[in-house]
Amino acid sequence: MPAKWRTAWITGASTGIGRELALRLARHGVRVAASARSADKLVDLAKAHSGIRPFRVDVTDRAELAAVHRNIVEAMGPVELAVLNAGVWHPMQASSYDARQAIHSMQVNYFGIVNALEPLIPAMVANGKGHIALVASVAGYRGLPKAAAYAPSKAAVINLAEVLRLELSRHGIVVSLVNPGFVETPMTAVNDFPMPYLLKADDAADRILRGLEKGRFEIAFPWQLVGMLKLLRLLPNGLFLRIAGRLGAG
Ligand SMILES: NC(=O)c1ccc[n+]([C@@H]2O[C@H](COP(=O)([O-])OP(=O)(O)OC[C@H]3O[C@@H](n4cnc5c(N)ncnc54)[C@H](OP(=O)(O)O)[C@@H]3O)[C@@H](O)[C@H]2O)c1
Repeated sequence: MPAKWRTAWITGASTGIGRELALRLARHGVRVAASARSADKLVDLAKAHSGIRPFRVDVTDRAELAAVHRNIVEAMGPVELAVLNAGVWHPMQASSYDARQAIHSMQVNYFGIVNALEPLIPAMVANGKGHIALVASVAGYRGLPKAAAYAPSKAAVINLAEVLRLELSRHGIVVSLVNPGFVETPMTAVNDFPMPYLLKADDAADRILRGLEKGRFEIAFPWQLVGMLKLLRLLPNGLFLRIAGRLGAG
């Protein structure tokens, strides 16, 4: 892969998909700013490749994100690719609804992205170029069992990506939306239900990078799961609720 970007910023880079993305980009000559809360894991990651530098941040802290963005630009130059990937998954059934988990999901998965966009967009507009990838999930397509906290936060990201793609292209900014299916990472290690078409994190990172290279809007995989869930999106509500109910709503 020829390096399309000189500097990339990845949030949620300490484990899973973000970590694999950081390593792949660095191997292709991209300078990578790796962010997450776990400073020790970021330092380990930076030891794995000299092109990676750690920038610890909690994405729920708006001021901290703005400061980290400034530090990255100073140390590494303008961010040309931002992969806003930090996320949390709180499995939660509606019958045991916990507002703290729902709020935390929204704070990290949605507002974590919003907080990063605030410094990123004006910088990219001023440069007349840039690429922003928002990591959502196929779980954002429709309401699904156990996803009362998670799915709404990802649905919000999907909607936001559409708005940004529409409005930022005239400024030379490419916006991509990443919707993975099940990927084997610390996030899914807690799951006690079958995960059809489960992918390895390195495979997921390869697919994401190929899509980003092509400047695609939606990068969704694997196609089998994406196809099924997109079909559910097209169904009338009555039929959707009958089918989705069999997936385990209790
Ligand atoms: N795995 C899947 O099946 C799957 C499917 C669809 C979508 N996704 C999405 O893909 C993205 C990556 O997930 P993953 O599977 O790679 O999970 P993961 O291994 O658990 O990675 C999540 C990353 O987010 C970071 N993070 C969490 N809270 C944060 C905060 N407040 N501030 C900064 N960083 C924070 C974590 O680092 P620290 O804990 O060190 O902060 C970690 O680096 C997420 O957005 C997830 O929703 C995953």
